[in-house]
Amino acid sequence: MSQSPYTDLERPPLSQRALRRALVVPNGLWTDVRVVAETGSTNSDLAKAARDGAPEGLVLVAERQTTGRGRLGRLWTSPPRAGLTLSVLLRPVGVDITRFGWLPLLAGVALTEAVRRIAEVDAVLKWPNDLLVDERKCAGILAEAIPPPAGPAVVIGVGLNTTLREHELPRPDATSLALAGAVCADRAPILHAFLRSLAAWYERWRDAGGDPDASGLREAYAFHCATLGREVLVHLPDGSQVRGRADGVDIDGRIVVESQAFAAADVVHLR
Ligand code: BTN
Repeated sequence: MSQSPYTDLERPPLSQRALRRALVVPNGLWTDVRVVAETGSTNSDLAKAARDGAPEGLVLVAERQTTGRGRLGRLWTSPPRAGLTLSVLLRPVGVDITRFGWLPLLAGVALTEAVRRIAEVDAVLKWPNDLLVDERKCAGILAEAIPPPAGPAVVIGVGLNTTLREHELPRPDATSLALAGAVCADRAPILHAFLRSLAAWYERWRDAGGDPDASGLREAYAFHCATLGREVLVHLPDGSQVRGRADGVDIDGRIVVESQAFAAADVVHLR
C-alpha cells in the first residue's frame, strides 16, 4: 500500500509550518517545533539532542515511530498519523532535581486538560500518567532524565491514540479518541492545546521552585486522577504486589497506598 500522506483522509499530515507559527512565539517556552515523517523514538532523538546541547523548548513530533518506547521497558506502537507521538525537552532552571518527578504528572494534567477541552471526552488519569477514557488506555507518557553535564534536563514523550480503529489497537484494554466518541480527534488542535497547557503549567511550577502545592499542581493532579480514593493493586518492579486504597500522592508525586509510597510501579484499578 502507498505511504502517501493523503491515502487516509481521516489522518491528514501535520504542518510543521502551522505548528511553528502558532507555538514558537516571543518569550514563549517552545523554541522550535519539528515534524518528521519517521523516526525510531522521539524520546531517544531528543535525549541525543539534549546531550548535544539543544536548548529547552525543543519539540519533536513524528508521523510514525518504528521503535517507540513505553514505561517499564514496554513498546509504544501506532499506525502512521493515527495518533500523536511527540517529545519535548525541558531544562528546569531553579528547580531541585528531587522535584523533577512531578514533570510526568504535570504533563498528564496538561494532556488531560487538552483532551477534555478539544475532544470533549471524559478523560482521567491513572497514576502516574496513563490517560484513560472509559477505563481504557488512550495515551501514555514517558519521562526520561538527562543527568549533568548535558543536563539536568528531562525529555517528556507523549503517545496519544487519536484515530486508531478497533483492529489497530495495541492491546484489548486500549482505546482511541475516535473510538471513544470524541467530538474532535484532529491532531493539530489537540497538539496546540496540549503544548499551550503544558507551557502554562510548567512555567507556574518552575516559577514556584517546583513546589507542587504552591503551584497548584498537586491539587490539579488530584482533581484529574481517578486512581485516588480507589481500591488498587500495585505491581512492584521486584514482582511483589500491594493491595489497598490509594490515599493520595505525596510531596514527590509518589502514590500512597496503605501508608507506603511508591515511585516506579504499575497500578491496576480494582472495583
Ligand atoms: C507508556 O504508557 O508506557 C508511555 C508511552 C510513551 C510513548 C511516547 S510516543 C512518543 C515518545 N517516544 C517514545 O519512544 N515514547 C514516547
